[in-house]
Amino acid sequence: MKVTVVGAGNVGATCADVIARKELCNEVVLLDIKPNFAEGKALDIWQTSPIDLYDTRITGSTDDYSKTAGSDVVVITSGLPRKPGMSRDDLISTNAAIVKGVTENIIKYSPNAIFVIVSNPLDVMTYCAYLTAKVDSKRVFGMAGILDTARYRAFLATALNCSPKDIQAVLMGGHGDTMVPLPRYTTVGGIPVTELIGKAELDAIVDRTKKGGGEIVNLLGTSAWYAPGAAAAQMVEAIVRDQKRIFPVCAWLQGEYGLKDVYLGVPAKLGKKGIEEIIELKLNADEMQLVKDSAKAVKEVMDVLDGMNATA
Ligand code: NAI
Ligand code: 2OP
Repeated sequence: MKVTVVGAGNVGATCADVIARKELCNEVVLLDIKPNFAEGKALDIWQTSPIDLYDTRITGSTDDYSKTAGSDVVVITSGLPRKPGMSRDDLISTNAAIVKGVTENIIKYSPNAIFVIVSNPLDVMTYCAYLTAKVDSKRVFGMAGILDTARYRAFLATALNCSPKDIQAVLMGGHGDTMVPLPRYTTVGGIPVTELIGKAELDAIVDRTKKGGGEIVNLLGTSAWYAPGAAAAQMVEAIVRDQKRIFPVCAWLQGEYGLKDVYLGVPAKLGKKGIEEIIELKLNADEMQLVKDSAKAVKEVMDVLDGMNATA
């Protein structure tokens, strides 16, 4: 098994590190456009292997895609991160050009790869990779929901003073302020969360979750990387180990939830073929309306990308 991570910055290097430590594959290639950057990061990570006792080989490459040849899974994290005052959508034109170029190069050397997209604006960059790769949508999807639910679960674990391990949750919609955490589908050790926490406190946690990315940008001056890197690695694990895990995944919808031709976060089963099933929850009218509103917001940014492609 071989995994390539494109972008050796904060998220990419963290993701590659987690993949190597967990020995999810034999070989990880970290690629970046900045000269020697990926080589340096890869060498540093590799030098932790005798300390932490793993043997997944990790190497770096400066824009040489021949090194990525035959990858089974490719994680794309290349692109600008958010700075304070920027929305994810502000990144569209720069990051679309980067994601398009990277995808073209990857597909040339790894025609059978499964793509996990991380670059922002996430839902639209996933669409960009799908348009470029021209492969089955089951092989091109995005990471956001695992991160957003992890934030929601972490906030709940703090509020309830319980282990985050016991909190199960699902969240839908785009990776932005319109995301839809679903308290009705949230349990703590099997107990519905609504039996353990008051409505006002739960509403505040839902709201904080929606703004969770911005909270970190304001604290750090750039966007998060530990949780995003670990979340992308968790998707890689589900694929390479054929785990059939169910996660919120940014997936191409073709009629599910009454939505068509849009990339949106939905619960999906991940295994060795990529997305093996999209699960349709029995949402109530209010939840469905929030998901539709989120899809509309994502579609508007997808239309911006389509407009850019039409004039290119
Ligand atoms: P970073 O700036 O630390 O790293 C990005 C790397 O991409 C840089 O090393 C840069 O040299 C490289 N790069 C730029 N153009 C490239 C190209 N054409 N080919 C190869 N490498 C190239 O940024 P960070 O923090 O790692 O974030 C990366 C992306 O992930 C950003 O777009 C950010 O918004 C997004 N992100 C998405 C999350 C999600 O939940 N989907 C969560 C966190 C970040
Ligand atoms: C995050 O949610 C900015 O998408 C990035 O941390």
